Amino acid sequence: MNGYKPSPVTQTIPVDEVLRGLRSPQKELPCKLFYDHTGSELFEQITALDEYYPTRAELRILREFGADIAARLGPACLLVEYGSGSSTKTPLLLDHLDRPAAYVPIDISRDLLEASAADLARSYPELVVTPVCADYTARLELPVDLPPHARRVAYYPGSTIGNFVPEDARRFMARIADVCGPDGGLVIGVDLKKDPLMLHRAYNDALGVTAAFNMNILVRLNRELGANFALDGFRHYAFYNPVFARVEMHLVSLADQVVRVRDVDIRFERGESIWTEASYKYAPAEFAALAARAGWRVEQVWTDDRGLFSVQYLTRA
Ligand SMILES: C[S@@+](CC[C@H](N)C(=O)[O-])C[C@H]1O[C@@H](n2cnc3c(N)ncnc32)[C@H](O)[C@@H]1O
Repeated sequence: MNGYKPSPVTQTIPVDEVLRGLRSPQKELPCKLFYDHTGSELFEQITALDEYYPTRAELRILREFGADIAARLGPACLLVEYGSGSSTKTPLLLDHLDRPAAYVPIDISRDLLEASAADLARSYPELVVTPVCADYTARLELPVDLPPHARRVAYYPGSTIGNFVPEDARRFMARIADVCGPDGGLVIGVDLKKDPLMLHRAYNDALGVTAAFNMNILVRLNRELGANFALDGFRHYAFYNPVFARVEMHLVSLADQVVRVRDVDIRFERGESIWTEASYKYAPAEFAALAARAGWRVEQVWTDDRGLFSVQYLTRA
C-alpha cells in the first residue's frame, strides 16, 4: 500500500452539543451523529434503494462527464474529499485525473474511512492517500506533510452540502475556500429542486432503511452516552418542506415521556420531535448565489438527463 498513512484522530460523541440540541425548543441532534459503523452501513444500503435517486443520478453524471470534470482540475492537483464515506464516486474522477499529487479523504466514520482509503490505495499504487478522521464542521487542519505547492481541489459529493442550513453552508464553503487557497477549486454535488412526491419517497422508502438510519442515532446515544431512549417510543418522520425547499427528518415521540441522557432529564410531549437532518434542494441559480457569497464562482454545472442532480465545478471568485 504505497503512500497510505492511517489517520491519527478518533471521534467521540460531543456530549455538550447533544445536550444543547435536546434542550432547545425544537429539539435537534446533529446529523453527523448518524455515521457510526452501523449508520455508515445503513447509508450505503440507502444509496442502493429504488426510491433514493441522488446516488444513481450523481453516478450517471460522473460516468458521463468524469473526463470533462478532471480536465477542468488540471494536472497534479491535490484532491481533498469531504465526507468521503465509501469513496465509491472517487475513482470516477481519479481515473481521469492527470498525476494527482495526493488524495486526502476526510470522514467522521473511522472504520469506513480507513477501509475505503486502504482499498483506494491498493487500486492506485502510485497515489499518496492520506485519510483524515475528523469532524469537518470543527476547525480542520490538513496533515502538514502534503505536497506544499500542489493546487488544492476540494471534492464534496453526495449533496451533503444540503445538510447545512444555507447560512452554515455559506460559512462551510468559505472555510473550504481557505483550505484550498486562492487558486483552489471545488467539485460539489448539489441536489436540485424537483417533484415533492419524489423527494418524499426518497426519504420514506418502503423497506424502512431510512427509518432505521434515523433511529440509529438513538441507538448510538443509548450505547455511547448511556441514554435510555425507548426505541419503540419514537418514530421516523420525513417530509418535504416547500417553504424552505428542504426535506426534514425527525424522530417523533409517540408518548409523553422522560429520557435520561447522562445526568439530564429530557422531557418529551407526545408528538414532539427531534429534528435530525435537513436536506436542502437548490435551483442552480440559487446555489450559484450562495457560492458567490462564500467566495466561489460556478464555472460549470453538469446534470443528469432528468435534471434531478448536479455536479458543479467552482473556482475562487
Ligand atoms: C450523505 S453521506 C455521503 C457519502 C459519500 N460522499 C457519497 O457521496 O455517497 C455523508 C458522508 O459524510 C460524512 N460526514 C457527515 N458529517 C460529517 C462531519 N461533520 N465531518 C466529517 N464527515 C462527516 C459521513 O460519515 C458520510 O460518509
